[in-house]
Amino acid sequence: VVDVRTITSQTGLFTHDPAFTATSSCESKITFIDGNEGQLLYRGYPIEQLAEKSNFLDVAYLLLFGETPSASERETYRQEIEDYSLINESLKTFFEGFHYDAHPMAMLMGVVGSLSAFYPDALNIRDADTRRKTALRLVAKMPVISAAIYKHSIGEPFVYPNPKLGYTENFLNMMFSRPNQDYEIDPLAARALDVLFILHADHEQNASTSTVRLAGSTGTNPYAAIAAGIASLWGPAHGGANEAVLKMLDDIGDISQVDKYIAKAKDKNDPFRLMGFGHRVYRNFDPRATIIRKLCHEVLAKYGSDPRLDLAIKLEEIALKDDYFIERKLYPNVDFYSGIIYSALNIPVNMFTVMFAIARTAGWVAHWNELVTTDHKIGRPRQLYTGLTQRNFK
Ligand code: ACO
Repeated sequence: VVDVRTITSQTGLFTHDPAFTATSSCESKITFIDGNEGQLLYRGYPIEQLAEKSNFLDVAYLLLFGETPSASERETYRQEIEDYSLINESLKTFFEGFHYDAHPMAMLMGVVGSLSAFYPDALNIRDADTRRKTALRLVAKMPVISAAIYKHSIGEPFVYPNPKLGYTENFLNMMFSRPNQDYEIDPLAARALDVLFILHADHEQNASTSTVRLAGSTGTNPYAAIAAGIASLWGPAHGGANEAVLKMLDDIGDISQVDKYIAKAKDKNDPFRLMGFGHRVYRNFDPRATIIRKLCHEVLAKYGSDPRLDLAIKLEEIALKDDYFIERKLYPNVDFYSGIIYSALNIPVNMFTVMFAIARTAGWVAHWNELVTTDHKIGRPRQLYTGLTQRNFK
């Protein structure tokens, strides 16, 4: 049941649609979702085909520019990504200001927001070269900043990006290599991460992307708009769900406890929800979850089984047969299985949402770019005032 009303107020006619359940906020040519059919297309290409045949950097280019790069465009683009991946040395002092156990998303929000101080030129949004530079700088720097956050949290020196490595290989190297120790990058880990990044790269007007667009509509510095998107992503109802799923699986602990947690999720007096279940748009299945479930089996076949996968499979099996979940069309979403893969790759739980942010940066910058290159007004939702009528102050 949704509460959408058309209201005539003293100031005119408007639609009251709390939580935007039935309201489109913009036109976009980037991503298409058919929630009833479980279909997701980036620039017309099915997500299944991109996950199988493409790679994250090409997909980021596709989202941004509308087509995957030609061979010569790819060469220029990869060079730009490499050039922009270095972060300003004085950012290091910024990291030092954070306590080692600060949540990585809090640090990410702060550091990315601070880039607006390093790149005031980004405000020149009418210039196509500047916009390209901003978009590619963000895509290039996000994994570097994210790995630096992890290194800061464990007290190890930062690892610089290595131009010889691919995007996800570089990320793994910056996360896990240590001075004077050999670190071998596993191609399966790099590919698994690449597929996860493709699946998370965009999802039309979700909360964080809408936040980026709303902030961007004011003409603010794009780095600040992306920091706003990071803030919005953090919550457990959105990107924070991947972290929450693993915590939930750890809490459940054993298959014998699954029924108890399903009952809790159905109890309207209990705030507990099955994390990684349900989606505002998908009312059939989330196509990304299907790809991730398969990937999860592939990764665990190599890295060794994880009892949490058995638990997740059982939970899914029981929930999908339960009238409560059937009636409400609640299915596993993209983040039901992603955390199990991240965990197998040794990525700590509190970094999961940061992983999501690295990937979603491609979508955020594509939407920001689309917004500022098309006719737009400042985003300004209306409200239905329910407070007191005018009274006199004595
Ligand atoms: N567990 C139990 N019940 C649920 C769940 C859940 N995970 N999700 C929804 N419901 C129930 C609600 O209680 C409500 O029941 P009611 O009609 O009896 O009141 C009904 O299903 C509809 O739920 P809403 O909250 O109205 O649906 P909405 O579209 O607003 O929320 C959301 C979508 C936030 C994803 C929700 O399903 C949820 O909280 N899921 C868990 C968190 C999660 O996995 N988030 C990640 C989303 S995907 C992403 O951002 C990458």
